[in-house]
Amino acid sequence: MAQAKHSSQAILMATIVVAILLIVVVWPLSMMGKGSAPAAANDEAEARIQPVAKFELASAPAAKSDGKPRDGATVYNSVCMACHGSGAAGAPKAGDKAAWAPRIATGMPALLKSATNGKNAMPPKGGAADLTDAELKGAVEHLVGLSK
Ligand code: HEC
Repeated sequence: MAQAKHSSQAILMATIVVAILLIVVVWPLSMMGKGSAPAAANDEAEARIQPVAKFELASAPAAKSDGKPRDGATVYNSVCMACHGSGAAGAPKAGDKAAWAPRIATGMPALLKSATNGKNAMPPKGGAADLTDAELKGAVEHLVGLSK
């Protein structure tokens, strides 16, 4: 009886010691892992992959539910707006007349060529490889129309 009581006390003591060790040693160690330096590195990494993440977003195929060609506004809203709506990736913003005037001045064929083949940070067809030439043209015309 006395023996049993003694060993249960020993177990209790051991449990307390382990708990204290966990609190004093392991917890601060795990907190250190979440310190400010690694968090900053994460932010930086996030900032670096952001254009890629946005590109992924843009490259999602536009909905083509009924197989009919999508009009310019539909294509613009689902594909091009990701960059041209906000100026992401350095894209000339829709409606920014000053940014668009010199580009519009190069003429529709030149704009279409850039849109088809890509230009610097602008991916070919805005990343939506399934766009037909007519759909892409409609989107360029819509974008230019917003920016004149
Ligand atoms: C991933 C971002 C992104 C997407 C999506 C995107 N663009 Fe762009 N676009 C750009 C950037 C950046 C530029 C500026 C390129 C430069 O002049 O350096 C640009 C420029 C353009 C230009 C001007 C080209 C020139 O010759 O000056 C046109 C036209 C254009 N985009 C049309 C579109 C159309 C249409 C879509 C949708 C089908 C689209 N873009 C989707 C980023 C994007």
